[in-house]
Amino acid sequence: MAVLVTGGGGYIGSHMVWALLDAGEDVVVVDRLSTGFRWAIAPEARFYEGDIGDAALTDRIFAENPVDAVIHFAGSIVVPESVADPLSYYENNTVKSRSLIASAVRAGIPHFVFSSTAAVYGTPSVLEPVQEDLPLRPESPYGSSKLMTEIMLRDTAAAHDFTYTALRYFNVAGADPKGRTGQSSANATHLIKVACATALGKRASMTVFGTDYPTPDGTCVRDYIHVTDLVDAHLKALQRMRAGGGSLAANCGYGRGFSVLEILDAVRAVHGGDFDVAIGERRAGDPAMIVADPSLAKRELNWQPRHDDLSGIIESALAWERHLARKNSF
Ligand code: UFG
Repeated sequence: MAVLVTGGGGYIGSHMVWALLDAGEDVVVVDRLSTGFRWAIAPEARFYEGDIGDAALTDRIFAENPVDAVIHFAGSIVVPESVADPLSYYENNTVKSRSLIASAVRAGIPHFVFSSTAAVYGTPSVLEPVQEDLPLRPESPYGSSKLMTEIMLRDTAAAHDFTYTALRYFNVAGADPKGRTGQSSANATHLIKVACATALGKRASMTVFGTDYPTPDGTCVRDYIHVTDLVDAHLKALQRMRAGGGSLAANCGYGRGFSVLEILDAVRAVHGGDFDVAIGERRAGDPAMIVADPSLAKRELNWQPRHDDLSGIIESALAWERHLARKNSF
């Protein structure tokens, strides 16, 4: 059997492709290369360049390959961008996911793993780590666009011979420990990526978005998870569904939070030098604090994170930034 990875040229998708190949799986990738890169896709994977919303293409991919599972990463991922341009988020994350799910159902594909997000919770009503049964109240079009896809999957699984796992990612960071891939978009906005790029002098400075949140140091608190542990949760989800496990939505985080200022201190410590940081206004759509309760994923998926170490996450992110600097200057 083969696994179809959508968005396999992107940050998390390219790690997933390597992890599947490492596990001996046959891998097919579809990516329109709008934010992903052809070079990031492992050469052993069969590659189709195109859009997941193109039903003729996805029907053809399912006809040409013995796919039994889809792992669906393709989508738009920047919270503030979704606030500024909501309809493109509903188009990319909801409408095109609907087309892909319909194509999978037509082809009789039994298993589907979906990249969902902690943003489906919005600002949690509790201070503790969030569990999956909390009310889902996204505060950004990004979170809503992903929640709508979770709902489509739930209803599709009730109506068809179709099982899904929605993994609600917290803040994904770091890079492949073997140095094969990493977060490569030139205009990435995620905190650890931006801080590492600034530390290395690729950016002149960066900004802390808001210091007046109701958190211990006034900056937002997030649960940062190593991308290697995250893709491992997908492998575990695949194994569980293939063994007959039912549909599930589960958090992927470590259960502890760091503030923006703590992350910047950790980047300074790992890098061994200071860099220019400005204090700015709050950014639209940011909840003050969100940390995962990962018990369900550990119990149901038998997921055992191995890279829960902030310095290690930052070291791998810095190593990838240095690699990109060398690659792009040649
Ligand atoms: N931040 C800064 N300066 C920057 C970049 C980020 O202060 O240059 C702050 C943000 O305001 C936020 C925190 O760092 O408080 C983390 O921001 P990111 O952009 O790195 O990540 P988000 O928390 O906005 O979003 C990420 C994922 C979502 C996921 C969410 C869950 O992109 O998919 O985490 O918290 F839902």
